[in-house]
Amino acid sequence: MKVAFFDTKPYDKPSFEEFGEKQGIKYKFFETKLNIDTADLAKGYDGVCVFVNDTVNKEVIDKLCQNNIKFIALRCAGFNNVDIKHAYGKIKVFRVPAYSPYAVAEHAMAMLLTSIRRIHKAYIRTKDFNFSLNGLTGFDLHGKTVGIVGTGKIGSVFADICNGFGMNVIAYDKYPNEKVNAKYVSLEQLFGQSDIISLHCPLTEETEYLINKRSIERLKKGVVIINTSRGALIDAEALLEGIKSRKIGAACLDVYEEESDLFFEDNSGHILEDDTLARLITMPNVIVTSHQAFLTSEALYSIAETTTKNIASFMNNEKCENEICHKCQG
Ligand code: NAI
Repeated sequence: MKVAFFDTKPYDKPSFEEFGEKQGIKYKFFETKLNIDTADLAKGYDGVCVFVNDTVNKEVIDKLCQNNIKFIALRCAGFNNVDIKHAYGKIKVFRVPAYSPYAVAEHAMAMLLTSIRRIHKAYIRTKDFNFSLNGLTGFDLHGKTVGIVGTGKIGSVFADICNGFGMNVIAYDKYPNEKVNAKYVSLEQLFGQSDIISLHCPLTEETEYLINKRSIERLKKGVVIINTSRGALIDAEALLEGIKSRKIGAACLDVYEEESDLFFEDNSGHILEDDTLARLITMPNVIVTSHQAFLTSEALYSIAETTTKNIASFMNNEKCENEICHKCQG
């Protein structure tokens, strides 16, 4: 079994080579992303392995099918970059539904603490022997209300972490889960009551621009917004306006709507074309990490293991529990 692996980074290879060898799967690592211009690279392979910023739209799926590719193995949980409806009946699609919800939830908390305790500022100051505390006043998390949107695998771990900090945890989910340590409220109530809002729902037509000009008006003044889910849950222009008007107290962004051409790459020698992102990054109360929340060694090994098992089950004609199809999504 030969698999064309797109958008390869150095940290992907060791775990995929190790698990691939165990299952008799040979990965060919391409640094380029999958899109209509690169889809022909997959010719002669049995399947492709892709990540969050590869383009798997109708055109690409048709091209992969023409090239006799039998499956698309996503090495991530979210699949908003794949036209699942178009893929149905043509090509199999697998994903990794869970690898380490702790990695992402802990990163969300790391960003929150960094932001509100000004660790990012203190780090730079003390490197320069500047030991002044002026401007570094933070606030306690204890007793604050955190609103979690989406209480699936990651959101529920984040709820546990917040409970550990003595926070008042409220949540909104389309499908509430009584096992989650949070009080479910309506989205409207969550917007109105939260000192901190953390987004952990998938990107769908329904959740696109969940944080927009109108919803920002309904938030508490000084609210901190954390997004480790998908960039387009937030209208970045509206977020920027909310920050400039002092309505939003801070933003912690691990994802960004237009991240695909920027994140995961070293653009330090280039002029950033995206004015909204550039302006957000200049704000003292905005922290941006480049889709890093998943990046722990535990998560990388778990991703490689599950992806390889998904491919192996296809190879062995077994039913794969991680197959996705639009008819299965309800
Ligand atoms: P999950 O599927 O376990 O949980 C998602 C939750 O959102 C479910 O409880 C679902 O009922 C809820 N939901 C669905 N539609 C909703 C709506 N309209 N409003 C409110 N809630 C809704 O997913 P998981 O594993 O917790 O991941 C959450 C998201 O985190 C993923 O969709 C993915 O986009 C993102 N992610 C980001 C990573 C990163 O490195 N930054 C890594 C892994 C995932």
